[in-house]
Amino acid sequence: MEKNLAVFASGNGSNFEAIAKACQNKRINAQIALCVCDHPGAYVTERAKRLNIPVLELRPGNFPNKQEYEKEILKELKNQNIDFICLAGYMRIVGDTLLSAYPSKIINIHPSLLPAFKGVDAIGQALDYGVKVFGVTVHFVDNTLDGGKIICQAAIPYTGNDREELEAMVHAREHALYIEALKVLL
Ligand code: GRF
Repeated sequence: MEKNLAVFASGNGSNFEAIAKACQNKRINAQIALCVCDHPGAYVTERAKRLNIPVLELRPGNFPNKQEYEKEILKELKNQNIDFICLAGYMRIVGDTLLSAYPSKIINIHPSLLPAFKGVDAIGQALDYGVKVFGVTVHFVDNTLDGGKIICQAAIPYTGNDREELEAMVHAREHALYIEALKVLL
């Protein structure tokens, strides 16, 4: 049966769009029933509107704490019968409210070979470190920064020094790997 996905994003949304296209093309047996965005007006919300995908835009600062913020999200996830959650550039640690409602059903993509280079600007961190094999990881989400059991990884050998070129390679690989992971998990 076709699964209902929610994709959580904070910014650009290229992974969101890659997943949406894979659903449309039936490469994965799912639809994105909801886009959750914690930065109202972020570019991902424009992509979602263009693709006719409902958007829940929330300002976490308007809630007394993470629990209340996530309870509000959970209400909408239930309304939309969401089965599975993909984080795609969602710049927040997920709390117990969502983790306990969706055990082993929340995954994330990160632009490094975890557990190396957690957190923001993983590509920049890896470049600064001088690594020669970059990569991408899809993993289950726990309540730590970029933590949780790894589902799959792709390595990207790169010895150049052109950040833009490397970022383009990493993002292209992310889009493909996220779809592969979803195919297996769903
Ligand atoms: C990606 O590099 C993803 O791995 C990381 O945040 C970035 C989001 O990019 N978690 P986009 O918003 O999907 O274009």
